[in-house]
Amino acid sequence: MCGIIGILLQKKGLLSKPLGTAIKECLKNLEYRGYDSVGFAILSDNGLIIRKSKGKIDDVVSKLSFDEFDGVCGIGHTRWATHGRPSDTNAHPHTDCTGKVAVIHNGIIENYLEIKDLLIRRGHVFKSETDTEVIAHLIEEYKKLGFSPYDAFKKAASLLKGSYALSALDLDDAGKIFFARNTSPLIIGLTDKAKFLSSDIPAFLEYSRNIIVVQDDEVGYLSNDSVVIEKLVDKSYEFDKNPATAEVVNYASRIRYIDWSPEMARKGGYPHYMLKEIHEQPQAVSNTLISLMNELGDVIKLLSKAERVLIVGSGTSYHASFIGSLLLNELANIKSHAIISSEMRWFVNGVNSEDVVIAVSQSGETIDTLLAVREVKKRGALTLALTNIIDSALARESHLAMYTRAGPEIGVAATKTYTTQVVSLALIAVKLAEYLRTVPESKLSELSTELRELPNTLSSVISASEPKARALSSIVGTKHSMYFLGRGLGLPTSMEGALKLKEISYIHAESYPAGESKHGPIALVDDGFPVAFTILGDEVDMIFSNVEEMRARGAWTLAVMPKGFERISKHFNYVFELNRVAYELAPAVYIAPYQLLAYYTAISRGFDPDKPRNLAKTVTVV
Ligand code: AGP
Repeated sequence: MCGIIGILLQKKGLLSKPLGTAIKECLKNLEYRGYDSVGFAILSDNGLIIRKSKGKIDDVVSKLSFDEFDGVCGIGHTRWATHGRPSDTNAHPHTDCTGKVAVIHNGIIENYLEIKDLLIRRGHVFKSETDTEVIAHLIEEYKKLGFSPYDAFKKAASLLKGSYALSALDLDDAGKIFFARNTSPLIIGLTDKAKFLSSDIPAFLEYSRNIIVVQDDEVGYLSNDSVVIEKLVDKSYEFDKNPATAEVVNYASRIRYIDWSPEMARKGGYPHYMLKEIHEQPQAVSNTLISLMNELGDVIKLLSKAERVLIVGSGTSYHASFIGSLLLNELANIKSHAIISSEMRWFVNGVNSEDVVIAVSQSGETIDTLLAVREVKKRGALTLALTNIIDSALARESHLAMYTRAGPEIGVAATKTYTTQVVSLALIAVKLAEYLRTVPESKLSELSTELRELPNTLSSVISASEPKARALSSIVGTKHSMYFLGRGLGLPTSMEGALKLKEISYIHAESYPAGESKHGPIALVDDGFPVAFTILGDEVDMIFSNVEEMRARGAWTLAVMPKGFERISKHFNYVFELNRVAYELAPAVYIAPYQLLAYYTAISRGFDPDKPRNLAKTVTVV
């Protein structure tokens, strides 16, 4: 929800730019996590320098003068407001009463009011409305009680309930960056010259690809000669005078090399990350298929024995889950349901050890999905993570992890990670069908051939759809509301199309099963009301009656459908006629026109598709 960065250099100037500039650039890479305010703290020769402001980085760059500040040790923050509206005062870093401690934080401190009351009674004066500020004052308070700066930080972290990835500088122990994590992501990056701390890998990819994922309840610090990580144990959450109990962690075996290149996290000539990521889909799909093809043995055996397979996810990942569940039913004859992660708690009583639960999440950090996994594990279900982020919380907490190979996705609207999720789940369904012999050989061979061809097919569809989507955006951009209808696998594809349009162009977009549209939604349809139909192939005749019902009420109709159905396609106002793809695999391809339509509609309405208002890339609050 927010992005944090910490940089510690062996000596000044090692990045060939002022530290303030490096912090600014890393924060730009994290801006997709939140962008209502920005700030940084640098330990300079003149003490602790803090600059912060409401607004996006580019809008406040001259006000904050990042480039004028240099040093060896600094932290920075880009905010997505939770406690306290976006303002200069509520922007991070937050300081204690002495101005020696600066803290940045991503997450929510659930017991901050309790701590704040206690600290106010002890004479602390608060400046902001945030939950974060209590951490700076807590550190100050423990230092007053005789704790060293690091012990005070550790104790403060041990009192916090909720989610946090936090980092602090303390003038009384200059040259160290303290950090702690519970639930919110936090990654350390290592090089010979510098150490980094960040909410996500792309922030420091230009400098380091050797990473350590900080785990829940870990605290520690970066210093010139070391990285110290400890695990908090026996957290009492009590404000007492006992030091926090922690055990030193040997993290050597946790250092990972990430094969993402810095170019992958840059725009590479595209005006926006979203457009670049749409075009990267063929490569992302190809990488995912190659890597998963040889890794599915255990997964297939596990799923083949399941009484039932539940697939959970949020937002776009839920739409991929929905497709996965339909394919498991259809191809492998396995009972499967998709469930929205945040709804799992009302479903969990029926879960037992005969079930396998696949949790789908690009980030692997979505708290709703993590909570769903924790719930089903308590009921004895085996869990399998499908995520794009190596060692993410979801991957660690599930019994087995599989990875999509989409590379870093910076645009807030998921595109290539969605396609790779859909392809991964389709591959699992096909492999299961092969293992369980639930479909004829001829069908299996058709699906296997088409799976291999999918990157090329997707590439042609993207190229063919882009000019049409750009042209169509001038019509869709004038509408206030739009329906997306589909049947079978066309329904989750329509749901994803609607989500893309609403999240970046702010046009109300609603998806419905086409057959259900006559049971209510049709009441809104009058002259020119836009209705998009997703037709993947098998359902073409069934859906046509729904098209006619809409046309009879004056709807402006759009179709995303295969070539070769002229008797039907001629009835639409606008058609994306796409290469034919096996019905089961079409969702991975037929989403592309909708992604492009959403992108160009946002542009035509003057919105930044990479940074939709009110949204954050990773949602770590319930
Ligand atoms: C997608 O465009 C959205 N930004 C959002 O719905 C997202 O898919 C959802 O928050 C789940 O994220 P995850 O895949 O990282 O769990």
